[in-house]
Amino acid sequence: MEVTRQATGLGGRVTGVDLGAPMDDAAFAEIHKAFLDNSVLIFPEQEITPEQHIAFTRRFGDLEIHVMSQFLLPDHPEVLVLSNDKKPNGDAVGIEDAGRYWHSDLSYLEKPSMASLLYAIEVPPSRGDTMFASQYAAFDALSDDRKEELSKLRAVHHFGSRWNKETGKAGVRPKMSAEELAKTPPVDHPIVRTHPETGKKTIYVGGFCTGVVGMEEEEGAAFVDELSDYASSEPFRYLHQWNAGDLVMWDNRCAMHCASDYDPQYRRHMNRTTLKGDAPF
Ligand SMILES: [Fe+2]
Repeated sequence: MEVTRQATGLGGRVTGVDLGAPMDDAAFAEIHKAFLDNSVLIFPEQEITPEQHIAFTRRFGDLEIHVMSQFLLPDHPEVLVLSNDKKPNGDAVGIEDAGRYWHSDLSYLEKPSMASLLYAIEVPPSRGDTMFASQYAAFDALSDDRKEELSKLRAVHHFGSRWNKETGKAGVRPKMSAEELAKTPPVDHPIVRTHPETGKKTIYVGGFCTGVVGMEEEEGAAFVDELSDYASSEPFRYLHQWNAGDLVMWDNRCAMHCASDYDPQYRRHMNRTTLKGDAPF
């Protein structure tokens, strides 16, 4: 196994490992360390079934079942489908326009996701890329005064607000049901969180944020938008251009990500597993 680090420190490329094969504890420990060191890992040229995808994910912890139940694999609800495929009746097979804004997966839960593992089965010849931004680097680049100011604040995160914004935009998303909305009430998290495994500080905002606790609605919304723009800006980024067979794993506790659009005449089909995490502190 070999791990090649990117110059930015975000995104390690892991070769010489078959994620579909049984993995001993030493190999897993090496991957786990690389994951903490690089925040994003790329495993190219993988050929794995949903069962193998789930089994590898389970080495890190418990899996999340996504709130949008119509986009889960029928026999494997741990797998969320991102796809522009349609069923014979015209319904979408997966989320077609997933994540086209900077965010951290499931930040709208009391206990947001630790990490996500996205496996590309088929990708368009160009675009459909995913950008990542290091929230360690974004925090480290702040002035001491700004670090101090942000450390005292908590942001509000809400799934329904973002989903409905996106529904209006591209017109390919179904409206959320009352039951789905009820499952995801607004929550608040510290804007500066401490990574529970590395102990390093990181900014924690993004596209599910609707405001700041204690601020007027508009002021708080503008505050989190501005901070998310800064935290996802160019110096902190890694751009991943997908090949079929890539499995990319990212740490939602210290990296944000954002998907780009693509020409819908091409098929883009991916499976995602999501790891449960702890309440941010
Ligand atoms: Fe995402």
